[in-house]
This record gives sequence, structure tokens and C-alpha cells, in this order.
Amino acid sequence: MRQPLVAGNWKMNGSRAFAGELVTALREGVSALDRVEAVLCPSFVLLPLVAELVGGSTLQVGSQTLSEHDEGAYTGEVSGAMLLDFGCRYAIVGHSERREYYAETDRQIAAKFAAAQRHGLTPILCVGETLQQREREETESVIREQLEVVLAHVGVAAFQKAVVAYEPVWAIGTGKTATPEQAQAVHAFIRHVVAERDSEVAEQLRILYGGSMKAANAAGLLAKADIDGGLIGGASLKAEEFLSICRQAS
Ligand code: G3H
Repeated sequence: MRQPLVAGNWKMNGSRAFAGELVTALREGVSALDRVEAVLCPSFVLLPLVAELVGGSTLQVGSQTLSEHDEGAYTGEVSGAMLLDFGCRYAIVGHSERREYYAETDRQIAAKFAAAQRHGLTPILCVGETLQQREREETESVIREQLEVVLAHVGVAAFQKAVVAYEPVWAIGTGKTATPEQAQAVHAFIRHVVAERDSEVAEQLRILYGGSMKAANAAGLLAKADIDGGLIGGASLKAEEFLSICRQAS
């Protein structure tokens, strides 16, 4: 039985005051839920504060990216060891905004995935197609490629301690959600690609959906067999929305 996971990706939003209010509003409600695991992924500068604020609750903390390097002369970068030291347990890797705006490649993302695990963090690997790729019926080939570069780099056993997030790029921040059927089809395909290498690893792998997921559409998505939770952007900035999604996942 896979434990549901709901992660809030705050992206480049928030302030100390905002973080204080949001975490205070979430702590009790999330801790009352016994099944779901809830993770908050604030920006790097807010991480130490959020890690402190979640103390004593069941909320976990994750980063939005990390360096593929362990230490050294990489100005502006943050290592897995630093993140672990500050209370992180998860690290998002390969978010489509990193792929698009910062030209992260599949190989670099594979290296970040490996770096996260080297430092005891659980990577949340994001994959997903653009609208143009979907219209050209390339969804499966794009996702297979994104997964296989990482699988080849780290080996399928590494997916025992990893999470995959399916995020159709056309659904991120656009208000257009994939239908539960569209999402389920891709989630089943992701599990199939992993199962080609190891069916047990595939069976226990948690696969999250991300892309305009909110309280009002979560139930239909979460009801699908291969959807094990959500990676929430905009709706994770509102306590009631995020809590409602966590409750529906639990
Ligand atoms: O990481 C989260 C996703 O990019 C989804 O963002 O819920 O604002 O569409 P969104």
C-alpha cells in the first residue's frame, strides 16, 4: 500500500511573515491526518525558518532544487548536505520551470537526483510534456526519455527511495488541469516504464500529479489507481486549499 504524499511547491513566493502564518495554519490540521505525508518546499532562504516552524508536527520540508555537486566553487548553489543539515528530507528535481528557464538537461537532472540520494534526501523527480508535444502525440516518448536518462544514471533500485511527479507543462499555473483519465493514463505509463526494469520497485513507487491541482479537483485525480498524491503550486500558498487536498489524499 503506497502512502499518499502531498507536497507544496511555494516556488518564488512568500516572506518570513507569510511562512509563519501558513505553517501555523497547517500544523494542527495536517498532524491530525494519519495516512498522508505532507511536505512544504519553500525557497532556500525560507527553509531554515520553515524547518523550525514545522518542528513537533508531522509536516516535512523539501527544497525546490539542489546542486548536483557536493561542495566547492559553485557560486549561488546549495548542496544536498546543506539541505539535510537544515532539516530537509525531500528535494524536487527537474521541475519544468528549471528545465525551461534554467536550461536544465535530463543528464543534469539525473546528477541532481543522484546528489539528493547521496545526501539522504528523497528526490521528487518531475516529468511532463508541453502542449505542443501532447498535440504531436509525443507524450509517452517524451516522458520515457525523461525517465530513462535518470534510470540509466542511477539504476532502478534508486527509485525505491524516490518519488516521481507527473506535471503536464500545459497544466502548470494555467488553471487547466489534466482530466483524471488523462493523468491516470500517464501515471500508469510511468509505472510501466519503471516496471520494465523492476516490477516491485514500480509497484511501490509513489507518483504525484501536479498542474493546477486544487481542493475542487483533487478528489477525482486522487481516486485514480496510479495517482498517489499531488505536487501543488498555487494552491499550496493557501492554508485551506492545501489542507483540503491533504485531507482528500488521506
Ligand atoms: O510544482 C508544482 C507545479 O508546478 C504545479 O503548479 O499548481 O500552480 O499549477 P500549479
